[in-house]
Amino acid sequence: MIYFNNAATSYPKPKVVFDAVNAYFNAPTCHSARTGLEIDSDDHATSARQKLAKLFNVSDINQIIFTSGSTEALNLAINGIGLKKGSHVVSTTIEHNSVIRPLKHLERDEGIEVDFVECDCLSYVEPAKIEEAIKPNTKAVVVNHSSNVTGSILDLAEIAKVAHRHGALFIVDASQSAGNIPIDVTAWDIDLLSFTGHKSLYGIQGIGGLYLKKGLDVKPLKVGGTGVKSEVLTQPTEMPLYYEAGTPNMPGIVSLDAGAGYILEKGIDHIRNRKVEIVKTIIDKLKDYPEVEVYTRGKRNSYVNFCFNIKGMVPEEVGYILDSSYDITVRTGLHCAPLIMKPLGVYPWGTVRASPSYFTTDNEVDKFIEAIKQTVKTFVRKEK
Ligand SMILES: Cc1ncc(COP(=O)(O)O)c(C=O)c1O
Repeated sequence: MIYFNNAATSYPKPKVVFDAVNAYFNAPTCHSARTGLEIDSDDHATSARQKLAKLFNVSDINQIIFTSGSTEALNLAINGIGLKKGSHVVSTTIEHNSVIRPLKHLERDEGIEVDFVECDCLSYVEPAKIEEAIKPNTKAVVVNHSSNVTGSILDLAEIAKVAHRHGALFIVDASQSAGNIPIDVTAWDIDLLSFTGHKSLYGIQGIGGLYLKKGLDVKPLKVGGTGVKSEVLTQPTEMPLYYEAGTPNMPGIVSLDAGAGYILEKGIDHIRNRKVEIVKTIIDKLKDYPEVEVYTRGKRNSYVNFCFNIKGMVPEEVGYILDSSYDITVRTGLHCAPLIMKPLGVYPWGTVRASPSYFTTDNEVDKFIEAIKQTVKTFVRKEK
């Protein structure tokens, strides 16, 4: 199988990830505070936090907390900052449903106001457009760092300045960028940043987390056991315990530790350069087929994935043909990002998204191009 769906979840994972999780399951590694065992699983958590802190430039590793993924992290951030009736939030049309839905629920249930600033035809949102949408009651600006549809990248440093100039918190969804693009929460002055483990950080599914700037007042989503301080009848307030109630997803943390370690060892730029080389090569070759419309364009783009349509075909048809005739896995439809589809002019059918990986071979690239060529010839040009 040629797996071009890494923006959904990465496959394969580096061998070190497999080995680390395997080793974890072959040893009784439990939270030492809960079991008294000598092997301290906190070591994995600390080690993972240290690596993530390097990738995101976080100075205090305890400001990184683990969640089940970016969705939980974004729910925690958006629901935890005390938005109430009359609060206004600015977001964008490049958001994933993990941002759209928590905001829409607060709008429906709590009477908060939300504006989704429309992206341009390159699916980019100018910081100035965000500033135009800000009102005196704006409490937060929530943006996707890099679109999971087109790959466009927003200027976080500038948007942070805009948000803070107006006294709003700045929340970032880094699900697609973490592990792909160097992130600097300190220099860019980000308040809350969510990340997922199972995409470009090479962890397994069910792990992710949230960075919280020191001193923020954010209510936890859940409270409960922490394995320490059991005599305290309310949630311990120190980091990271405050946000980590319940037995942690230790296999997930172990995988994230190994995945982040792999990225640090190889170098994030080295990994990204290979992905960009692959994606740009494919986009370039697709120029031979005017029937193929590529929506991944412009300078401010990660070029680690791309999306397209074949004129006269709906994305599902293309995905089905690639899968059934060529054993190529892509993703089709709205990609959980419905609002970006209208500015792209592809609502309600969406696009085909192809996301190769660092491990994709040149041979797989050639097979993908050939599959598109044959699909165009057979279903669009109908050549004999
Ligand atoms: C931009 C974006 N935000 C949020 C998510 C949700 O991430 P998770 O699977 O960790 O909940 C995804 C994953 O599909 C995504 O691409």
